Amino acid sequence: TILVDTRPGTGENALRYGWITLNRPKALNALNDTLMDELGAALLAFDADDGIACIVVTGSEKAFAAGADIAMMQPFDFPNAYRKGLISRNWDTIRQVRKPIIAAVSGFALGGGCEVAMGCDFIIAADNAKFGQPEIKLGIIPGAGGTQRLPRAVGKSKAMDLALTGRMMDAVEAERAGLVSRVVPLADLHAEADKAAQAMCGYSLLALMATKECVNRAYEAPLTEGLLFERRLFHALFSSSDQKEGMGAFLEKRAPHFTHR
Ligand code: HXC
Repeated sequence: TILVDTRPGTGENALRYGWITLNRPKALNALNDTLMDELGAALLAFDADDGIACIVVTGSEKAFAAGADIAMMQPFDFPNAYRKGLISRNWDTIRQVRKPIIAAVSGFALGGGCEVAMGCDFIIAADNAKFGQPEIKLGIIPGAGGTQRLPRAVGKSKAMDLALTGRMMDAVEAERAGLVSRVVPLADLHAEADKAAQAMCGYSLLALMATKECVNRAYEAPLTEGLLFERRLFHALFSSSDQKEGMGAFLEKRAPHFTHR
């Protein structure tokens, strides 16, 4: 239910990047256990692969993912769902990934689909993308971060509006609100994600991972702690060969050759 591939970065010594396509077209990529297990395993495999710098997750033109699989969830009961951590067991995997993940979103990103996109590090949206948390229409609430990540991304008022009315937000509104980093024509979506991933493939993996860890701290820690965390990692990177190489290459007016050490 997913397709997994790797693609080369640009430049001689560039790392590769992972490309994951959600692929349950008949159900608009509704997220069932099989798909989420496969997605989690693919993410962790790329994270563990020394030759991979970053990861792109995408869906189809019509749907990034139309949410958790409603047919799968309909018979759930509380005791089982609670005891077994139903659905949630494989929804936290994305948080364990330490390399950058880009969500390249076209079409519907609803409910759990919006939550998966928000679990990625940034979202590049096609102009046909539609985001929403329509769980309210099903008699439930978002269950994989929608009530927590959406207000952090777009503020309380818009998060309440989306989650309480169940309406969809188009790509322009999503960019204005800060949910997505850029909107591009549908035809350019994959090329734009390729370009962003290729740029990262040319950088020091240490610096990429430290950047991700620090930005995420902004959502976990008070400002003073976050600034301290950033300062510590900033100083730590001066013990890397990549720092000497990156700054040396700049001063010698040549391209850097990072070794991720
Ligand atoms: C199961 C789904 C599905 C879903 C679509 N399908 N979304 N199946 N779970 N979330 C299936 C349809 O049943 C249909 O199957 C096929 O995909 C095509 O969908 P249509 O509805 O015919 O397409 P369209 O008319 O274009 O409408 C698209 C849509 C609509 C607006 C996206 O499908 C829709 O509203 N889907 C549900 C969105 C939603 O409520 N998501 C939140 C789920 S709750 P058949 O067999 O009829 O062709 C959630 C909780 C997360 O995500 C919790 C995380 C822990």
